[in-house]
Amino acid sequence: MIRLPVQLAAAQPGWTVRADVIVVGSGIAGLATALHARRAGRTVLVITKAQVNEGSTRWAQGGIAAALAEDDSPAEHLEDTLLAGVGLCDEEAVRVLVTEGPGAVRGLIQLGARFDTEPDGGISLTREGGHHRDRIAHAGGDATGAEISRAMVEAIARDPGIELVENALALDLITDETGAAQGITLHVLGTGQRDGVGAALAPTVVLATGGFGQVFRQTTNPYVSTGDGVALAMRAGADVADLEFVQFHPTVMWLGPFAQGQQPLVSEAVRGEGAFLIDAEGTRFMTSEHEMADLAPRDVVAKAIMRRMRATSTDHVWLDARHLGADMWVQRFPTILESCRSRGIDPITDLIPVSPAQHYVSGGVLTDLAGRTSIPGLYACGEVACTGVHGANRLASNSLLEGLVFAGRIGAQIYRGLRVVRDPILPSHTDQRLLPHQVRRRVQTTMDRHVGVLRSSESLQLASTELNALAATEQGKPIAEDWETTNIATIATALTRHAALREETRGSHWREDFPDQNDAQWQVRLVSNLNSDGTLTTRTVPRSGVSYSDGRQA
Ligand code: SIN
Repeated sequence: MIRLPVQLAAAQPGWTVRADVIVVGSGIAGLATALHARRAGRTVLVITKAQVNEGSTRWAQGGIAAALAEDDSPAEHLEDTLLAGVGLCDEEAVRVLVTEGPGAVRGLIQLGARFDTEPDGGISLTREGGHHRDRIAHAGGDATGAEISRAMVEAIARDPGIELVENALALDLITDETGAAQGITLHVLGTGQRDGVGAALAPTVVLATGGFGQVFRQTTNPYVSTGDGVALAMRAGADVADLEFVQFHPTVMWLGPFAQGQQPLVSEAVRGEGAFLIDAEGTRFMTSEHEMADLAPRDVVAKAIMRRMRATSTDHVWLDARHLGADMWVQRFPTILESCRSRGIDPITDLIPVSPAQHYVSGGVLTDLAGRTSIPGLYACGEVACTGVHGANRLASNSLLEGLVFAGRIGAQIYRGLRVVRDPILPSHTDQRLLPHQVRRRVQTTMDRHVGVLRSSESLQLASTELNALAATEQGKPIAEDWETTNIATIATALTRHAALREETRGSHWREDFPDQNDAQWQVRLVSNLNSDGTLTTRTVPRSGVSYSDGRQA
């Protein structure tokens, strides 16, 4: 079996920077945490891999779900979230999400985010798959993430207590003699004193690095989503969970069999406004699949599309949104309209070719309800985290909300007081080899082919063999892309292991050889740890009741 690298920084860091709190990532989860930490009076260093707004948040189209309408309630939002999660959500975590959600969205508005409104001034709410109420708040029609990102970036820029370091790839966690977090090593493509590998020191480190869509060849995620936070946490020995639950969005614009990298999303909100799917023969097929038809939970729609594509021997189906009319398209979906037109499709008169592609990961670094991980002082927030709110399949538009709500909970921990600063144990050397960036496509193609929407013991064995073979690849002088490729391969290996062990079909995990849901055996989570010798240990744990300590008294 492949031995995964357990340390990436090749030499003693060349420079050091200090703060009270380090936040790694600058999407909604990271920036919300930074703002909370400032309210607690802490100095904050936000480290981000590219430019501040280049993560997944700004690509979010549909919106943010919260029980804001008079005819809605957190209890109903809870019910829809649990149903979508197919028996694997942590109910307490979902309760936190849905009860604290409305206040968190109002806080975002106070910060300056401008949501679309009705003529009476109330927030305009729409519906997406799996929701029984209109509860998705949106901005700029279909540019919700971009508006949230704008408001948050402006807010952190106004605060001199937050320092932003861009073009900085987080490498490894730095710990102290007790095993608690004391910072990270990072690689900065910068100028002057902060260039190359350095150390950022703080007794509180919050991972908010987003997902790992780039583990797959076709994803809606931007190029930065290489799972750096999950891989960093794994190398530090943290618990990671639910990695097998990778969500494939049903309606990603189909650009042909050779398309790779970030693919254009056609938001579920388009179906929320009345669009529907048809197959190659022009038949509307979701009406016979589920009582919610085209607005069934995401895994149901993705699976139905896959079955239809097989039955009709095609590689895509069609989204019919012509009847929405020009006004709706221009006002409600300007981003998607432009995205379609730039590819020669006019959705006002043409059908849109769509097929499922990787979109979101429900699993990640396991946390408790306070965002704490199994390593004292290390927190995780947003898509990088596995809080248990998504279970086996995330309900549409719950992801921005999760980042916002759990950032507040981490903020409450930071508010309790500064953790103890101890001498950091800095990495001295490593003889561990990184995977060269040239193998990235091989990993992605392997994952698309064998660990995608449809999985079987045979396909997972093929993936495992392919991934093991990569260990023999020669590598030259490391560059940032090698670190990212190593992160991708590390996650791919653990994900494949989880998918092979979970011998059932549930939510976004679809096993052809185990087509049924098996509650008697599998209403549990798979948790993995990367050992210091580079091997993986995987165990099952109950789906709820995770509790960690951050090294302080309760
Ligand atoms: C979408 O707009 O369809 C995506 C929303 C989400 O991923 O929650």
